[in-house]
Amino acid sequence: MLLKDAVVLVTGANRGIGLAFAEIALARGARKVYAGARDPSKMTLAGVVPLRLDVTSAADVAQAATACKDVTLVVNNAGVAWSGSVLVPEGAQAVRDHLEINLFGILRISQSFAPILGANGGGAFLNVLSVASWINSGFLNAYAVSKSAAWSLTNGLRNELRAQGTQVLALHMGFVDTDMTSGLDVPKASPQSIASAAFDALEAGESEVLADERAREIKRGLTTEIPVYVKDQMAAYRGATSLSDTPSKH
Ligand SMILES: NC(=O)c1ccc[n+]([C@@H]2O[C@H](COP(=O)([O-])OP(=O)(O)OC[C@H]3O[C@@H](n4cnc5c(N)ncnc54)[C@H](OP(=O)(O)O)[C@@H]3O)[C@@H](O)[C@H]2O)c1
Repeated sequence: MLLKDAVVLVTGANRGIGLAFAEIALARGARKVYAGARDPSKMTLAGVVPLRLDVTSAADVAQAATACKDVTLVVNNAGVAWSGSVLVPEGAQAVRDHLEINLFGILRISQSFAPILGANGGGAFLNVLSVASWINSGFLNAYAVSKSAAWSLTNGLRNELRAQGTQVLALHMGFVDTDMTSGLDVPKASPQSIASAAFDALEAGESEVLADERAREIKRGLTTEIPVYVKDQMAAYRGATSLSDTPSKH
């Protein structure tokens, strides 16, 4: 689908990759951009419609669906990543907390917005995933569990929504230079380059986009004799104590 004249909803639009999606959607001629944020007063980007939207809140999602009946593209971007072992008493809760946002957040939004996209001619979901859909370094174990699950959900939704003409695009990439990865000293793509690559793929009608070299490399590694997901993936995290400057939640 094309961005020109689209009505776009971006979740987690107040910073990071979500903010880049909102900016670039406007630059590509979107007619309206709803900028979802847990705290809409944090939305400072001119030209967007700020929207209170915590993806873990059924009430927020229902209100958004009532207020945004003209949406033609939903960018499921909101997400969290906390580092830490799952082999500790808090490990199961860490997995649940990641799933609540990174998986059930997408599911909640999909349930409410699939009928709206259908009524508006089909439209599209753009789901922000990660190379963690395919590899689990151990450093981000609970996060990777949630992204694998979100990848599967995305693939299932694509098939469920084919009949109503809704494009479902899965976005995969390695590290991106946002608050999320501020604690890591590794090569990172810019949020703008990732959002631009994703919108290029969306406009080309694709179902999956590998937005940086890291994603392309990991995807190639899935078919080698010793697949990439059984190899040591911890190297990028050696020396890091947490993913961001803020301590791990768990
Ligand atoms: N950075 C990377 O290296 C990288 C790589 C691959 C994939 N990703 C994915 O890209 C997406 C964006 O990440 P980012 O790097 O831009 O992270 P970020 O800078 O930490 O921003 C995360 C955004 O998600 C929002 N959010 C968190 N929980 C939410 C909730 N319950 N409801 C609504 N919004 C919520 C945050 O809102 P608040 O400001 O209120 O916290 C913020 O706007 C995520 O899905 C992430 O998993 C990131």
